[in-house]
Amino acid sequence: MRHVVAIQVAMKEEGLGLAQKLGLSEREALDPDFGFRWFRGEFGNHLNLSLVLQGTDPRWEVEQIGLEAAAVCTTLIIQQIKPELLMNFGTAGGFESRGWSIGEACVISEPIVFHDRRVSIPGYQESQLGAYPVADTSRLRQTLGLRAATVSSGSSLEMSDRDHEMLVSQNADVKEMECAAIAWVAHRKRVPFLALKSVTDLVDHPEPAAAQFLKNLALASHVIQDRVIDALKYLDEHLDDPIWSRS
Ligand code: ADE
Repeated sequence: MRHVVAIQVAMKEEGLGLAQKLGLSEREALDPDFGFRWFRGEFGNHLNLSLVLQGTDPRWEVEQIGLEAAAVCTTLIIQQIKPELLMNFGTAGGFESRGWSIGEACVISEPIVFHDRRVSIPGYQESQLGAYPVADTSRLRQTLGLRAATVSSGSSLEMSDRDHEMLVSQNADVKEMECAAIAWVAHRKRVPFLALKSVTDLVDHPEPAAAQFLKNLALASHVIQDRVIDALKYLDEHLDDPIWSRS
């Protein structure tokens, strides 16, 4: 019996190339009102693979990035595809001060947090940080030779001074805009979750993040797609790995 793996990706620029490389075919959208694009196929000897892109905003004709679209998309993936393992891959801004460089790939470690949900009331403050688990990726990371990275998610590509303070206090290696929302849904639905990211921009560099992001998006997407293929090969060959275990 094949094992069901679903992969969620925010932008077509990040994920469409993987659907093409793996020869996945596009099915009907997961929900036509949201336009989440669903590609499906088989991988190796043991995996049934679904790749879901968060789709395009019909009003502005840009990709539906961000936490809200991510959470709705994950919910529909889990309800409709029923994955045994959920993966997210994409791009992120990295801290040069913590040794990250453009195009470098990483495996996200736990806890996965948010950095811009500020509610100064006991209980709410802690709850808004998130702090969600990931699957046990230790062997996968070792096999792929990838560094572990702490991720913090928020709703902006830009970084305010307060965001920066928060990211530093969280020891964040990378920041992006979906991972914690996806991790929240996966955690509540008890689906093992892992995330792989590659760096498009250095957030503590004088050049604006947007300019770096646009310049490096194709390169970083290419890198991460190839690492995701490596990860899928590992999963296909290691069905007894702890990564598959529900926490
Ligand atoms: N995705 C890629 N780079 C990012 C950044 N600097 N902030 C948020 N999301 C990103």
